[in-house]
Amino acid sequence: MAAPLPRLVVATANAGKLAELRALARELAATIVPQVELGVVTAEETEDSFAGNALLKARHAARATGLPALADDSGLEVEALHGAPGVYSARYAGAGADDRANNDKLLAALAGVAPPRRARYRAVLALVRAADDPRPLLAEGVWEGRIAAVPRGAGGFGYDPLFELEDGRTAAELPAAEKNRRSHRAQALAALLAAWRALP
Ligand code: IMP
Repeated sequence: MAAPLPRLVVATANAGKLAELRALARELAATIVPQVELGVVTAEETEDSFAGNALLKARHAARATGLPALADDSGLEVEALHGAPGVYSARYAGAGADDRANNDKLLAALAGVAPPRRARYRAVLALVRAADDPRPLLAEGVWEGRIAAVPRGAGGFGYDPLFELEDGRTAAELPAAEKNRRSHRAQALAALLAAWRALP
């Protein structure tokens, strides 16, 4: 296992993601610092893959701060829509779209598509030790589900009220602790830790 990093900058401003990433960071680094606290401006997500965007965000944060950096990128892939909204999940209904508009657009796009409307959340984490790190650590997590006919539940965020699990509950109906244990991000975090521990 590599020696812990003294400080690690995290390229997200989302409070929920930060809380999840802090748990991981405890093993990776002595201190984790959200990039906003260091004045880093959010990078534009110009790549067409989750891995590409996660790496772009990590390198951007490392370049701006001179510190090792951790970033994530995630989204929803719907089989009947050939993987859309994918990397465009946050802005599916347009730049600045809110969760409600994105969910409405998703339901409209799936009108007439019979169940099971299979879908998955995907998350990729990227860790770089420096902006030009030639061997970044990348880890992915996938959470399988399907798109419900109507939104249900008040928890979570984003597409959670429409993301239905095997047992019929939506991700928005899970207790937060259960979602944080099972989610695509939790799986990516576990995979990143395993990759970190396997380093010489
Ligand atoms: P990111 O911040 O670029 O990773 O944006 C990811 C987008 O994908 C979010 O804005 C949501 O629309 C969607 N998404 C990712 N993870 C989740 C989740 O756990 N629940 C609901 N929506 C999610």
